[in-house]
Amino acid sequence: MTLFPDMLAPVMNASILGRAQKAGLLSWGAVNPRDFSEDKHRKVDDRPFGGGPGMVMMAEPLAEAIDSVKKRGSRVIFLSPQGERFDDAKASSLAKKKHLVLVCGHYEGVDERIMTSFDEEVSIGDYVLTGGELPALVVADAVARKLPGVLKKEEAAAAESFATGLLDFPQYTRPRVWRGREVPEVLFSGDHGRIAEWRRRAARSATRRKRPDLLERAN
Ligand code: ADE
Repeated sequence: MTLFPDMLAPVMNASILGRAQKAGLLSWGAVNPRDFSEDKHRKVDDRPFGGGPGMVMMAEPLAEAIDSVKKRGSRVIFLSPQGERFDDAKASSLAKKKHLVLVCGHYEGVDERIMTSFDEEVSIGDYVLTGGELPALVVADAVARKLPGVLKKEEAAAAESFATGLLDFPQYTRPRVWRGREVPEVLFSGDHGRIAEWRRRAARSATRRKRPDLLERAN
């Protein structure tokens, strides 16, 4: 649900999400609250009662837009910096839902009375963006890649790390020496046990160095 539907297609239809749609694994659509405005100028916002700067999105066009797509089993999510923090576990739980309605706010905010129309409020981090479109795309991407079949087997294996609480192990490809820097010898050993052990250690060490907070949580 967005006042800027053109922002979504370039991301949703590219790369892995594009491939997933062609395979029939997911579909998406954009709904513009402006199409539900009762005003002849298709107005969707107005000045705040009590005064102050900025504009507030009116409740009625949003409510009508939500009702037009909501079905039984839909999860209606409002993207906002005030929401619960989005993470990998949240992506997994949302991936079990049949239908997500991601509602993007704009301007200074939305009329508070619309809040009861949402099942939950989600934030992608402690910073403020100009609108909910990028957060909605972040959520859509993170959820879509959890759906069965969306990632190829090798993509899924490479992606397991965050779910295990560790960062990825480092990867190398050709050439074997690049600008004087060599690939770790063990990776040419052909010894799958040793390679696996090296990767486990390297993942732990990368995690300790870059994200010690993750290790504390895993312990
Ligand atoms: N809208 C504006 N900033 C946001 C954020 N950080 N997360 C979710 N929605 C937002």
